[in-house]
Amino acid sequence: MRLSDNGQKVFEARYAQKNENGEIIETFEQAVFRLSRTAASVEDEENKVWEEKFSSVIGDLLFIPSTPIWANIGKPDRPWQPGACFVLAVEDSLDSMYQTLKETAAVFKSGGGVGYNFSTIRPKGALVQSTKGKASGVVELIKLYDASSNMVMQGGVRRGASMGILNVDHPEIIDFIKAKMDGSLTNFNISVGITDAFMEALENGEEWPLVFNGDTYESVSAIELWQLISNAAHACGDPGIIFIDRLQQYNPVPGNPLDCTNPCGEQPLSPGESCLLGSINLAKMINPDGQANFDLLASTVGTAIRFLDNLIDAAQYPLPLIEESTKATRKVGLGLTGLHDALIMAGLAYDSAEGREFAGQLTQYIQQQAHETSRELAKEKGCFPAWEESIFYPDDTRRNAACITIAPTGSVTAMAGCEGYGMEPIFAVAYTKNTNVAGDFEVFSPLFLDECKKHGVTEEVLAEVARQGTCQNVSGIPEDVARIFKGAQDIDNTDHILMQAEVQKYVENAVSKTINLPSTATPEVIEECYLMAYRLGLKGITVFRDGCKKGTVTVGKDKK
Ligand code: GDP
Ligand code: 5AD
Repeated sequence: MRLSDNGQKVFEARYAQKNENGEIIETFEQAVFRLSRTAASVEDEENKVWEEKFSSVIGDLLFIPSTPIWANIGKPDRPWQPGACFVLAVEDSLDSMYQTLKETAAVFKSGGGVGYNFSTIRPKGALVQSTKGKASGVVELIKLYDASSNMVMQGGVRRGASMGILNVDHPEIIDFIKAKMDGSLTNFNISVGITDAFMEALENGEEWPLVFNGDTYESVSAIELWQLISNAAHACGDPGIIFIDRLQQYNPVPGNPLDCTNPCGEQPLSPGESCLLGSINLAKMINPDGQANFDLLASTVGTAIRFLDNLIDAAQYPLPLIEESTKATRKVGLGLTGLHDALIMAGLAYDSAEGREFAGQLTQYIQQQAHETSRELAKEKGCFPAWEESIFYPDDTRRNAACITIAPTGSVTAMAGCEGYGMEPIFAVAYTKNTNVAGDFEVFSPLFLDECKKHGVTEEVLAEVARQGTCQNVSGIPEDVARIFKGAQDIDNTDHILMQAEVQKYVENAVSKTINLPSTATPEVIEECYLMAYRLGLKGITVFRDGCKKGTVTVGKDKK
């Protein structure tokens, strides 16, 4: 059990147990045992062998639980709160708004991120019966919540991070779309909840009514609204869009409304539900001959699902309502990281049909094995309590209403030392780092450097790659190397989306992914991306245009 030097730094800064003076009093190995012991504590006596199995997959970095698990579970001075993802309800009353804010503070303190769908809130300017005054509206409420995020530092692990969704027919949608263009609301990601009815109105070039509580406030051109969204995303990376009818279409427990996600969009949840995450490290699942090790993948997934499922019972919840909702459906979010590492090891390009096929195979296999394990756990320990109201009833017994989620894996990937975060392509094969202390120096992707050495690429050529930040079209780089080593900005937006669509097929929750665009991309390109996302069955999409003014919660590659 050993971490790289950088991995050790992440572990010590974020996860290691510390004493009252802030000194580190735990090794990585001890932390692995802390997690494994706690997860195995809910097993019957004859099943305590699981402690060893958990520590073996986690210690070898085959399976990496997400941040709140490392930061909280089994620690004497922290709540044992494993969830990264929460969704809370806000109702249209002052009482509820402040109640939810208080609930949010409890969740933030325990290390989770929160999403809200604000479509229940009356729009700015609407009448408030009790005071005969005017409602301050959705954007004002988001400002309040955003300001409050700064209050909670979450035991030094991370600050508050939120998702705000507003449905596309809400009368305040125009202000909402523009809400982050002035650089504010930095603790929020925002997304427009797009309905199928809106997509139809858009296609037919119709007027689109903005409605609250049955009253139509005004009608706007669907096309103009669509353009407004892409213009805002062009300027500041927000809002993203989320296809809320699709969330409901795949809702495993259809009676519970499902119109919201956690901050980075990967986990649709009903109000009150929380979800814990963990990732399979695909960089460890490829044999030296470039083939996937499906046996290792199967056994790792089985152990990982059992680990996550156990923690639902070992957990301490920030609120009784969250405990009740979470235990009713027992959703877990097993995902992957190092997808691009695995593709490189297999000699496949991220932006090729073969690369997508391989990514699809791996994800599909993870999903199959996860569902199989969930079925076995149901036989052993019982189905999730809401199973009789679920789409699986009566034939398909399961322990968990949902199993697969692709998270950004910002911190845990840095600890494990993969090059590609979650399902993202590597950021860049090399770049020049400017530091005050050491001056300028070149930083290379280790996988890239290895491959270049094999091909006898010279130091001069490597220096040129670092200067350009890419190995595409650099003379002296063999074509075969250039084909495989494309960074996020070298990959065409349509190839980003095609990969997201392929992976989403095998993910019953959702996928966190950024569609990178060059700084020269126009708002029309963003509209095309959105349409492609809709046609290919994505649950949501977020674009990031190089150099745009994105002020947002730090996850994924932002943390590098
Ligand atoms: P990791 O486990 O730290 O690598 O987490 P990810 O980057 O995969 O993020 C997974 C989820 O954790 C996000 O979608 C959020 O719900 C939550 N999350 C991530 N970063 C933050 C943060 O800085 N603050 C809070 N409150 N939640 C976060
Ligand atoms: N909707 C969904 N996800 C978002 N992210 C950022 N903004 C949004 C949004 N509005 C996610 C990206 C990436 C991470 C940094 O945050 O998809 O995975």
